[in-house]
Amino acid sequence: MFADLRFLADLPLFPPTASSIAHDVDQLYFFLVAVSGVMTILIFAAVIYFAFKYHRSRHPHPTQIEGSTKLELTWSILPFLIMLVMFWWGTKLFFRNAQPPADAMEIFVTGKQWMWKIQYPDGGREINELHVAVGQPVKMTMASEDVIHSFYIPAFRVKHDVVPGHYDTIWFTPTKPGHYHLFCTEYCGNQHASMIGWVDVLDQQQYAEWQSGAGTQGTMAEQGQKQFEQLGCATCHLLDQQGRGPNLRGLYNKPVLLADGRIVLADDGYIRESILDPNAKIVANFQPGIMPVFKGQVTEEGVMQLIAFVKSLSPNTPASQQGSQQPPIVIAPQAGGGPAPTSNSNASKTPANAQRK
Ligand code: CUA
Repeated sequence: MFADLRFLADLPLFPPTASSIAHDVDQLYFFLVAVSGVMTILIFAAVIYFAFKYHRSRHPHPTQIEGSTKLELTWSILPFLIMLVMFWWGTKLFFRNAQPPADAMEIFVTGKQWMWKIQYPDGGREINELHVAVGQPVKMTMASEDVIHSFYIPAFRVKHDVVPGHYDTIWFTPTKPGHYHLFCTEYCGNQHASMIGWVDVLDQQQYAEWQSGAGTQGTMAEQGQKQFEQLGCATCHLLDQQGRGPNLRGLYNKPVLLADGRIVLADDGYIRESILDPNAKIVANFQPGIMPVFKGQVTEEGVMQLIAFVKSLSPNTPASQQGSQQPPIVIAPQAGGGPAPTSNSNASKTPANAQRK
């Protein structure tokens, strides 16, 4: 429908185009610029033309004009149609950009004044450096430890605010090996300008070599398991039977029935909330107030590791699988298996609390 404007993106004025969506974002951008440019020229031309045409030297006694329906319809309907094209085009791109493919590799980012901390599933960690492979779709799960940051890779045409209190996600498929800028684009304090880094796009073989050096502390899931034990989670969330807290095996990305009758998906965001603010959503058949609040006890990076551990208890469940069609898991405390849920007054005596002096 529209002329191919790709050649414009190769002008040195623009950042490199190095992801599968970059050209499409540019085309929409150039369309918006073209429409704005044409409208600006038309409006200025009309202003100048009428200024001369109706100059008072030629029209000393102006006559009243009562309007023109035809003209008014034209200048209403035409812009409306152009806006509809912008809306349709933008929405199409937005939805494409919002749904990571099922085979996307997961990488985790934590924004912190003033650095980007990257975690890979194999346990590797970096600061202000991101390594990805050409052709491999990547889904980034992002959290903030303090204030609002914004994760921006101009060469990939992806940018997303990273808001404290929940997860934000983006995805991209790098298409060209290279060394690209990574920015924070939300003012986040006096060192905001130094919250920058690099993205290295490697070919498949280089990436395999690079990966082999990572993960000296075990995978993210193994690091998560260590925390799970240190924080005392294992005392109530028994992994072989039903304990005082819900059994976490097979839970990840499955629908869960809550005490108030709602059904929620046990995705990353739900598990994060359940760790930091356990009373926000109480699972059916369990008592509120038993689990200690871990807000302030675990870092966002630690929460991501705990989630990786919970995920590892549900093998064969890809992160992008939508579980909303499945029947909800109803977790019932087992008769005779483990201590029964008790009242709130016992909350402070849980071993988990005792460990965190
Ligand atoms: Cu983080 Cu600006």
